[in-house]
Amino acid sequence: MWGVIDLKRVKTGIPGMDEILGGGIPERNVVLLSGGPGTGKSIFSQQFIYKGLEMGESGVYVTLEEHPLQVKKNMENFGWNVQEYESSGSFAIVDAFTAGIGSYAEKEKYVVKDPDDVRELVDVLRRAVSDTGAKRVVIDSVTTLYLTKPVAARNVVFQLKKVLAGLGCTSIFVSQVSVAERGFGGPGVEHGVDGIIRLDLDEVDGELRRSLIVWKMRGTAHSMKRHPFKITDKGIEIES
Ligand SMILES: Nc1ncnc2c1ncn2[C@@H]1O[C@H](COP(=O)(O)OP(=O)(O)OP(=O)(O)O)[C@@H](O)[C@H]1O
Ligand SMILES: [Mg+2]
Repeated sequence: MWGVIDLKRVKTGIPGMDEILGGGIPERNVVLLSGGPGTGKSIFSQQFIYKGLEMGESGVYVTLEEHPLQVKKNMENFGWNVQEYESSGSFAIVDAFTAGIGSYAEKEKYVVKDPDDVRELVDVLRRAVSDTGAKRVVIDSVTTLYLTKPVAARNVVFQLKKVLAGLGCTSIFVSQVSVAERGFGGPGVEHGVDGIIRLDLDEVDGELRRSLIVWKMRGTAHSMKRHPFKITDKGIEIES
């Protein structure tokens, strides 16, 4: 059939997720991973990075919300030890959290002092991706980048997307929304990204239930259903 190209896909490695996506995230896509507090966005992103490392695909994790040490500790809770990958140079954390203050940051290679300065972020990110040869990039969260200036959101996302797609990366941009919000992070952002995956927590009969839905994914057909999932000590698993 004409018009159909053999699209390369990046496997999330999250049990059940690649089936939902028709095989994985189309290569070079920027996916907005949107959801309220505690819905599993960081865990999903960390699993995406770690499974990539296991499959031989380098990764970069940009942290704006948590201390880099906390990110690594959190990953270890799920058995995702990034130490050897960091030492061998296939994984790097970009620290956009500590602002370069403290003994930890002094030793770090990739520090963004002012996350409001997109150019600085792009420079450090470019360096980290180039040093590691990263195929996968996570920014947790992009919301933090334009919290104080919502009008800049579209531009920030566009600049990051241009750089990352140009470098051949497949990326997850974490987007924080409030508990009752129906959107995914604002119109400028939602239209600019290639895909949107929404994570939800809903109270049913006095119990919180987790589910996710793929709202859009350029370049592929995907499940249109809402899928319940669980978080265990092995990470996220889609329930069938
Ligand atoms: N070992 C575990 N087993 C089961 N559930 C866990 C485990 N560890 C964490 N969780 C669940 O995951 C939630 C945190 O997920 P995560 O940090 O990915 O949320 P988030 O969407 O990034 O939230 P935020 O926007 O606040 O950063 C916890 O609130 C808890 O419900
Ligand atoms: Mg988080």
